[in-house]
Amino acid sequence: MVQRDFTLTNAHLDNETSRRYLHIITWGCQMNVYDSNRMVDLLRPLGYKVTDKAEQADVLILNTCHIRDKATEKVFSELGRLKQIKEYRNQLGNPTLIAVAGCVAQAEGNIILQRAPYVDIVLGPQTYHRLPKMILEVARQSGSIIETDFPVESKFDFLPIPQENTGYSAFLTIQEGCDKFCSFCVVPYTRGAEVSRPVQTILDEATHLCSIGVKEITLLGQNVNAYHGEGPDGNIWNLARLAEKLSSLPELSRIRYTTSHPRDMDDSLINAHRDLPALMPFLHLPVQSGSDRILKAMNRGHTADEYRKIIDKLRKARPDIALSSDFIVGHPGENLKDFEDTMQLIRDVQFSQTFSFKYSPRPGTAAAISMHQVREEEKDARLQALQALLREQQDQFNQNTVGRTIPILFVGKGRKQGQITGKSPYLQAVHIQGDTSLIGRECQVRIDKSLTNSLSGTLV
Ligand code: SAH
Ligand code: SF4
Ligand code: F3S
Repeated sequence: MVQRDFTLTNAHLDNETSRRYLHIITWGCQMNVYDSNRMVDLLRPLGYKVTDKAEQADVLILNTCHIRDKATEKVFSELGRLKQIKEYRNQLGNPTLIAVAGCVAQAEGNIILQRAPYVDIVLGPQTYHRLPKMILEVARQSGSIIETDFPVESKFDFLPIPQENTGYSAFLTIQEGCDKFCSFCVVPYTRGAEVSRPVQTILDEATHLCSIGVKEITLLGQNVNAYHGEGPDGNIWNLARLAEKLSSLPELSRIRYTTSHPRDMDDSLINAHRDLPALMPFLHLPVQSGSDRILKAMNRGHTADEYRKIIDKLRKARPDIALSSDFIVGHPGENLKDFEDTMQLIRDVQFSQTFSFKYSPRPGTAAAISMHQVREEEKDARLQALQALLREQQDQFNQNTVGRTIPILFVGKGRKQGQITGKSPYLQAVHIQGDTSLIGRECQVRIDKSLTNSLSGTLV
């Protein structure tokens, strides 16, 4: 996400060259990060180069998230800021185009143009392959364009292969959308029905990523472990089979996937964690609640004990696997006993890192119209207690890695002079004092110290 203070100055305007600039702000999940990179790829042939200065940009894109109320409101406040930039640039004779992409665009469509008539393009997550055409159209005629239908064609058939090495760790979307309709969630409405990309297109993209230096690929999908893509043999492949195929790419040393649903955590995938060294010992498996009553109200389709069983199997298959999850507190109808059940599940499982949220009612979802909403102060208190316990577990997990020697994939420079930073197999951030020539390599590091959100170590 790019966010910073904006001061009106024309120092950044690049009038002398014919180069066009693009500024993109991304909120939300990793799939939005992937999508933003693909929009950049799409606009590159039109001569657009990315700038991190909004006031320099001919095209401003907000790639938005609708998951909670706060995420959506951020978009409108950011638009107010971009409006000023657009007006200022227009005064200087630099036409500027504002596009709103992503899940808010999909959900709010026309409302965005009503609230922010200076927006030129509103496009959903399934139509962004049409962005170059839309930009040319807006340039030709005045007036805004909305494209939020779910097109029959797949955007993936129209996206160029990623052009530049954006790092040693890359995202690759393999599945999109969701048919599960959890009571609280907008994703089935913003991303549409569940669709898996064919295996071959994923292999081609992964092979290309490796050829530009990528060492770690995170396979993405709203329900990534529900993946069921057409294989080169004409059969349907599941995620375990896809991961096995990808692990045969010689340059690819690490494979991850996110986000998984407990209902789709089948034995073949659990066994893949035992059998494939490239599959990292880390799994983000959102449980949301530890109360059967609330899990049912959420329409999650599993019980707390079924979740515990999956964790047991995973730990048998891969004893050192680190577990991560998402939690929602204060879903309609959640009482103190339900909340205590969630706390107990957390104590039973022991997570290495997590995300937790207060329930936020979302338009069009089943839970939003429930008569049993939980008071805001109650949600605050539960979230605080939950996060304190999760924090303890995260600290404990990190503490347990101190003294161990583990392979770290270095991905960039650290914040301090002479530091480089990388990732452990368990998705911990690790930094060491080391030469930048190590960036892009996986090296053995002894972990010396656990800090608040990272570890420090020494190269061995
Ligand atoms: N597909 C994933 C989650 C996608 S949304 C899954 O099935 O778990 C990411 C996370 O946002 C969810 O796991 C949930 O914890 C949180 N979330 C979704 N809707 C929410 C809402 N209305 N209020 C609060 N948190 C929400
Ligand atoms: Fe949302 Fe549930 Fe689908 Fe996850 S599985 S994206 S939480 S509806
Ligand atoms: Fe947000 Fe859409 Fe992702 S709502 S979490 S950007 S799928």
